[in-house]
Formats: sequence, C-alpha cells, structure tokens
Amino acid sequence: MAKKIWILTGILIAAIIALLAVGSMRMPQVEDSAAAPTVAGIKVGGAFTLVDHNGRTVTEKDYADKFKLMFFGFTYCPSVCPTELQKIADALADLGPLADRLVPLFISVDPERDTPAIMKEYVGKFDSRIIGLTGSRAQIDAMLRTYKIYASKQPIEGTDDYTMDHSSFLYLMNKENELVQLYRPQQKAGEIATQLKKHLAP
Ligand code: NI
Repeated sequence: MAKKIWILTGILIAAIIALLAVGSMRMPQVEDSAAAPTVAGIKVGGAFTLVDHNGRTVTEKDYADKFKLMFFGFTYCPSVCPTELQKIADALADLGPLADRLVPLFISVDPERDTPAIMKEYVGKFDSRIIGLTGSRAQIDAMLRTYKIYASKQPIEGTDDYTMDHSSFLYLMNKENELVQLYRPQQKAGEIATQLKKHLAP
C-alpha cells in the first residue's frame, strides 16, 4: 500500500515537472508591470535578418528609430492570428499620432507557405502599417530562438495539410530592441493601447 502511494506520488511529481517545463518553454517569465518590466533570467530579443513583405532583406537596424510591436504567427492560422492582428489594428487606431513612433511587425513561423507576397496581402487586410516579415527556414528558426518563440508543425489528420502550434503573445521592443513589455492574448486592444501610450509618450 505504502509502495503504491510512493509510486503515485512519483508520477504526480514527474507530471508537475513536465507541465512546468512546457509552461516555461512556451511562456517566458516576463513581469507585466509597466513601471519596471523585467525578464527573469531570460533574454528576449536581439539581432535578426529577415525578408519583409516587399521582398527586401531587413535587419533590426531597419527599425532602429522606432518601438516595435512584434507578433509571431502564420497566415493560414484559423483563429488566433487574425484575432491578434485585428487587436493590433484596433490598438493602432486608438494610439492616433503616437502610432508613428511604433512599427508593428508580424513575423511568420511558417516561411514555407508564407511568401512575402502572401504576407503583404494578409497584413494589408488588417492595417497597412503592419509589416509582414518572413525569410528562409534558417532565418526564421534563428529568429524564433532569439525571441523565445515556440512554434511547432502539427499535421492535420487524414490530409497532407498542417497547422502551426505557436506562442501567441505580443512583444513591445524599444529602439534598442530590448523587451519593454509583453502582452498576453487575454488582453484587449484598449488595455494594450493604454499601456503602449505610456511607453510611446515623448
Ligand atoms: Ni496563429
């Protein structure tokens, strides 16, 4: 009997550790406080080389004069990405002229399907100020590692098709390309705009 309890306890502990491991992998531990955002031991962000939706090779230096609002996803995404992109569009509208200090970047986690032309057409449906970024598989993989983004190809059963399971939070990066704040999918456009205004105010 006692042995059985120990085995069950062991299984439970293993399950908790596994859950924690998955949780930390998918969600960097970033404090949401607008006053003192800190990234607990995790460095998010850095240099990148990608291809913008006009087919031009770009790096972080191309956006060095602005704050960056980054979202990672893919154009075939059935629900989360369109919702988040609409939220970005709504937040931009709410920002008014302050939006000029910000560049919204939508970065593909599915570069095999998301060509620059497809990205351009897609982001244009939400707001013409959003820039779609894609690239080679190697460029995107490096980007995902640098920005601690989880993305995984999931086959759709009974088809040759696939979908992408991916992290779905927004990063606000400053001009130096350091993480300023992270927004979670639960946050509404108005709330995000209010917090963005604090950071973007001259
Ligand atoms: Ni998505």
